[in-house]
Amino acid sequence: MRIRDILQGEPNHDVTVEGWVRTRRTSKAGLTFLELNDGSSLANLQIVAEQTLPNYDEVERLATGSSLRVRGRAVESPASGQRIEVRACAVDLIGASSEDFPLQKKRHSFEYLRTIAHLRHRTNTFGAIARVRNEVSRTIHDYFQSRGYLYVQTPLITAIDAEGAGQMFRVTTLDLDHLSPSDGLVDYSEDLFGRPAYLTVSGQLEAETMALAMRSVYTFGPTFRAENSNTSRHLSEFWMVEPEIAFCDLSGLQDIAEEFIKHIFRSVLENCAEDMNFFNERIDPEVIGTLEHITHSDFERISYTEAIRLLEQSGESFEFPVFWGADLQSEHERYLTEKRFKRPVIVTNYPRSIKAFYMRVNDDERTVAAMDVLVPRIGEIIGGSQREERYDVLIQGMRDHDIDPEQYWWYLDLRRFGTAPHSGFGLGLERTVQFVTGMGNIRDVMPFPRAPGAVEF
Ligand code: 4AD
Ligand code: MG
Repeated sequence: MRIRDILQGEPNHDVTVEGWVRTRRTSKAGLTFLELNDGSSLANLQIVAEQTLPNYDEVERLATGSSLRVRGRAVESPASGQRIEVRACAVDLIGASSEDFPLQKKRHSFEYLRTIAHLRHRTNTFGAIARVRNEVSRTIHDYFQSRGYLYVQTPLITAIDAEGAGQMFRVTTLDLDHLSPSDGLVDYSEDLFGRPAYLTVSGQLEAETMALAMRSVYTFGPTFRAENSNTSRHLSEFWMVEPEIAFCDLSGLQDIAEEFIKHIFRSVLENCAEDMNFFNERIDPEVIGTLEHITHSDFERISYTEAIRLLEQSGESFEFPVFWGADLQSEHERYLTEKRFKRPVIVTNYPRSIKAFYMRVNDDERTVAAMDVLVPRIGEIIGGSQREERYDVLIQGMRDHDIDPEQYWWYLDLRRFGTAPHSGFGLGLERTVQFVTGMGNIRDVMPFPRAPGAVEF
């Protein structure tokens, strides 16, 4: 049985349970108390083992980290601290742990735990993160599936840059140690695909092709960015959910994004209460209050131009200068959500020059129908836009961004054969889990984070 089910169930029945020893305490009266965890809940199951067990010698010496199978009876616990405990009639050691098991009872820093990423899931914090991450993923599917969106899979290997930002990892079968470039140029005809290939930065462009056939679709998978940024909010490999909706404009897209985020937060509060109480106690005392507040209030919606005006008038001294045409930095985004509005903010209609080539050009010709959703502490959690559906305007946008339209011929075809207004966005899974749990560093909400210099596990 799972420990969670035993802890939540009724007493007075026989159980068999497997798990790993978190702590052992042996009393002089000839009793050993084991705290067993199997990852199904934050709380451990207390096992009481008596001297009468044939292998009691072994039980009273069990090391932290050992794996066990216990047979016994679940009973009401006479002691405070737990409602249910298990009186063992057999304790079988399955895998012994040695004395140098690194997770002893003291608290370890998150930096240290990153160096033992293969074991850190056996701590309270990382167990709780894994369960919350699972719930966020589950409820993302739940949101779209219950509204008729089709889950589609888009490629991870690609020949084009979906964001046009040049932050891609290369994929090659060429032997990089023995390249024989002629004229200093690599011969890609020798490569597996016969041309340069990359890991994708986004599934959006392919999702657009499917939305223009199936109306509402979403992709949900890993994406890759080769940008060398060492911040607490960037990973080289992260998961993104990208809905794409035909016949939807920027205003409709904002409504979906707001409803979607509230849906995720509500599900986590409802279905991960034990873990969320832990985060509230141990990581950030405001995390539950913030999530509840967000699910009950409207997001603020302002234009980029308005955001710049508010930042200029704020009286704050920012590190990065504020002027119309400058990209919003994290410090600006945080000012708007944390100080100015104290809730999530959707900023729309950014200058053309700082946004991707595919965004729809507004009538003013200076801005595009872009949308970023900003939340406190994290800043941008969603980036999206209405897409440019007019062939000529899209071609011009590509040229303005120094992008060769020929490579995007199939993407342009969509604008030739039954084009339609359509919109979509991308929500970063890790930034969402980071926000929901209150964790300070994004590397701690990805089980095996990839970031500059980090690829060990
Ligand atoms: O704003 P971004 O770059 O948008 C896109 O990729 C669009 N193609 C999405 C779309 O319209 N379909 O990224 C979207 C989100 C960001 O708001 C952020 O939450 C997350 O992805 N993100 C990252 N998360 C972790 N590490 C990184 N390096 C990230 N870059 C973006
Ligand atoms: Mg963005």
